[in-house]
Formats: sequence, C-alpha cells, structure tokens
Amino acid sequence: MGVTSIVLATRNQGKISEFRRLLSSVSLEIHTPEDFPNGPEVAETAATLEGNARLKAQAWRDHTGLPALADDTGLEVDLLDGRPGVLSARFAGVGATDAMNRTLLLEQLRDHPDAASRTARFRTVIVFAGEVEEAFHGVCDGLITPHECGDGGFGYDCVFQPTAEARTFAEMTADEKNLISHRGKALRRATAWLSKMVESEE
Ligand code: IMP
Repeated sequence: MGVTSIVLATRNQGKISEFRRLLSSVSLEIHTPEDFPNGPEVAETAATLEGNARLKAQAWRDHTGLPALADDTGLEVDLLDGRPGVLSARFAGVGATDAMNRTLLLEQLRDHPDAASRTARFRTVIVFAGEVEEAFHGVCDGLITPHECGDGGFGYDCVFQPTAEARTFAEMTADEKNLISHRGKALRRATAWLSKMVESEE
C-alpha cells in the first residue's frame, strides 16, 4: 500500500503546526480539515486515548477517502490519580476553554505546593487509518508548575515543566518542545513508519 497524501484529523492549529513540522521530512501532500468544509465533527466517546484517536482517524478517512492521521492526548496527574487523562479537553466541563482547564488544575493542586509531589505526564496516541491501521505512542514526564509560565504553545503547555528542564513547554521554541514532547515522540515513530509506506509507492 503506497501513501502519497494524508489528511490531519484535527482542527487544533497548535497540533497542525507540530504535525507539519515533523512530517516535513516525508514527501507527502498534507491536507487539513480546512480543505474539507463539510468534514465530520467527531465526538470523543471512547474510554481510551487510542480509542478516540481511532474514531477521529477513521471518520476522516471515510469522509475524505484519504488516509488520515489523528492524535489524542491526555495529561495524567499523579496527585489526581491520573486525572484528567482521557478527559483532559473537558476537565472543567463540556466546552471548557484551555484557560478554564488550567485554572481548575492549579486550583486542585493548590494544597500541594511541594514541587516534587506534582508529578504528571502527557501521553499521546497517534492513529493512522488508511487501508491498514497503526497506532503510535509517546509519553513525556514532568511536573505541574504552581503558576502559568510562558506564552507559547497551547493547552496545558504553560503549566507543564518536562523532567530535567527548567522551563515549561510554553517557554520553549516549537523545535525544543517537539524534541522531547509526547507528540514529538509518537510522531517520529509515525513518520518512520510512514516513510516506508511512501517509499513503497515510489
Ligand atoms: P485532545 O487530544 O485534542 O483531545 O487534547 C486534550 C487536551 O489536552 C486539550 O485540552 C488540549 O488542549 C490538551 N493538549 C493536547 N496536546 C497538548 C500539548 O502538547 N500541550 C499542552 N496541552 C495539550
């Protein structure tokens, strides 16, 4: 099965630019939902990150006829027994903004000022859905900061400080984040696999 073009099954501009950066090494034509104005809105109803990524990739493959790449990401906070996890986008309720989710997170950890106790990890699963389906995983460990720091990135970036780093993701350049991030790791695995699929077309 050769692959020459794909559609990214996300409307999140932060994710789209991270995908584009890392996929630039593969000779693939990249489409986004903006190219398909009637594309599906996919409800994230699965119980796992992989299940949700699969739902999004399959829906966009079926709508466009192109192979699709989707990711689902969760932030697991140890003091909250792994929450918000698969519910990270809806932590402060359905329709919550990133800012509302971050405020709730910092509020729930307010009674735990000891930095070492505020361990957390981002987990990403990327699913490719074409004639075949493949899943790629990536994890990034770190700490939840006491306050928001930095104005880059998106989502929980300004409250997440990766292990062995003095800065949050939001204080890093896009390339610095991609090098160590959950999505960067999963995407490099996906890219290596996709390169082989592209070569089999050539
Ligand atoms: P989803 O994968 O789009 O469902 O994202 C789940 C939640 O995690 C949303 O609130 C996103 O804003 C957030 N999120 C996803 N990826 C990242 C990231 O790389 N950094 C910070 N927040 C993220």
